Amino acid sequence: MIARRGFLGLLGGAGLTVAGCGALAGKVAREVAGESLTSALPLPARFAVPLPIPATAVPVRPGRFEVVQRAAKAEIIPGTTTEIWGYDGTFPGPTFDLRAGGPAVIRVRNELPVPTSTHLHGGVTPPESDGYPTDVVIARGRGFRPPPGDHSHHDLRQWTFHEAARDYVYPLEQGAATLWYHDHRMDFTAPQVWRGLAGFLVVRDDEDDALPLPKGERDIPLMICDRAFEEDGSFRYPSLDPTLLLRPGVDDAFMEGVEGDVILVNGAPWPFLEVDAARYRLRLLNASNARRFRLRLTPGGRFVQIGSDQGLLPAPLTHEAITISPGERFDVVVDFSGHRAGSEVTMVNTLGTGAARDVMRFRVRRRAADDSVIPKRLSRAAEPVTTAVATRVFDFRRTGQGGGGSWTINGRRFRPGRPLATPRLNTSEVWRFTSDFHHPVHVHLARFRVLARNGGPPAATDAGWKDTVDVRPYEVVDVLVRFEGYRGRYMLHCHNLEHEDMAMMADFEVV
Ligand code: C2O
Ligand code: CU
Ligand code: CU
Repeated sequence: MIARRGFLGLLGGAGLTVAGCGALAGKVAREVAGESLTSALPLPARFAVPLPIPATAVPVRPGRFEVVQRAAKAEIIPGTTTEIWGYDGTFPGPTFDLRAGGPAVIRVRNELPVPTSTHLHGGVTPPESDGYPTDVVIARGRGFRPPPGDHSHHDLRQWTFHEAARDYVYPLEQGAATLWYHDHRMDFTAPQVWRGLAGFLVVRDDEDDALPLPKGERDIPLMICDRAFEEDGSFRYPSLDPTLLLRPGVDDAFMEGVEGDVILVNGAPWPFLEVDAARYRLRLLNASNARRFRLRLTPGGRFVQIGSDQGLLPAPLTHEAITISPGERFDVVVDFSGHRAGSEVTMVNTLGTGAARDVMRFRVRRRAADDSVIPKRLSRAAEPVTTAVATRVFDFRRTGQGGGGSWTINGRRFRPGRPLATPRLNTSEVWRFTSDFHHPVHVHLARFRVLARNGGPPAATDAGWKDTVDVRPYEVVDVLVRFEGYRGRYMLHCHNLEHEDMAMMADFEVV
């Protein structure tokens, strides 16, 4: 609360005002953040495929993992095959189930025809392992030069090339949280994630383990994303250059972002999960390129939120609906004990239309013992008493029209090596995000708390420590960002992956 008072004081001092935003809010009609692609094949039946649970990564020796990025065939739409690009050839990739403070080294070997960069989203990671977009791994024997053209940011001095494989070092000096990893290659993150390069990394700690929350088979990660398919089952995506080697970008019609008409959970279309009439911990991740979801349970049910992007809340919060934008996570408990055996509970997306309104279904199979409890107090970690030492504004906006248009921050296209901010290690700053459209804003390394939306209180779903925040059209969102961990180059960007590829990123340097 001290932080908040300090923040309001700062605003007064800076003479900033948000009074004009109310008028702009009238323009906000669309809740949808992209353009929908229609699949060329008949959509599969809903709730016909069991929910897959990604395999847990097995270390090659304690604290060391190896994962291979490769193409593989998967049966996503029953009766067809889809070529995916996956970590270990799976989509989602394996789940890394790790302990806080136990350093992990993950060797990523690239056997794909394109360069890759792997980022641990939400990780407090040294800069050289953060998965910077121009710090890439190239398969052995494959030459690569950054494509020339109008992308003036392709300054070769900003690139680092690793041949075949490299190690990412994750100290994980952070609390228990549901993190995820995904590709972050310069200009081509959106199509490469669309093809499957994403997975979970769950950080556990003693505090979280000691809570009597649902565990084991009742602790389930749910990676929710949308895709579209060609007639033969391959992924459909409007790349200008399907080889992903030369020209970045998507057809002009998809400038706002690409949405698909098939909703996948853990890589399966509209799956079902058989559950006991008991409590379940669901780790919700929106891994879509552009689609926002407003999740609800029907015919009834609530989400008791226990954690946010960066881990446990101080106390649980109950939501009827959860709006989740790309990159965000919500750790929730859903209680199925009030449902009779044989009943069904569907998780729907009230922002979706047609089949995309459905997400997945829970089938309650039987009554069962349940010793889990949602404690009134969750995380006991003391709230840091911090005051912002600076206020910075980042304006997320489209610049230019049509094919020449791009998405910019403070009017600038991304240029590696030109930081927009240089916060000091172990300080906090107020960052104000303003926008012309839906922009889920993500900050690497540093976690933050949402202080205000349009000068008013944050949304109920903004609680806790976050690393990604849903910024809506003509909205002003103030966050208090804490810079801890490492000095060096990091980035903030829009997590609408098409916007990200169209230059809506910026460096910041922790000094
Ligand atoms: Cu999840 Cu820089 O991204
Ligand atoms: Cu990140
Ligand atoms: Cu954006």
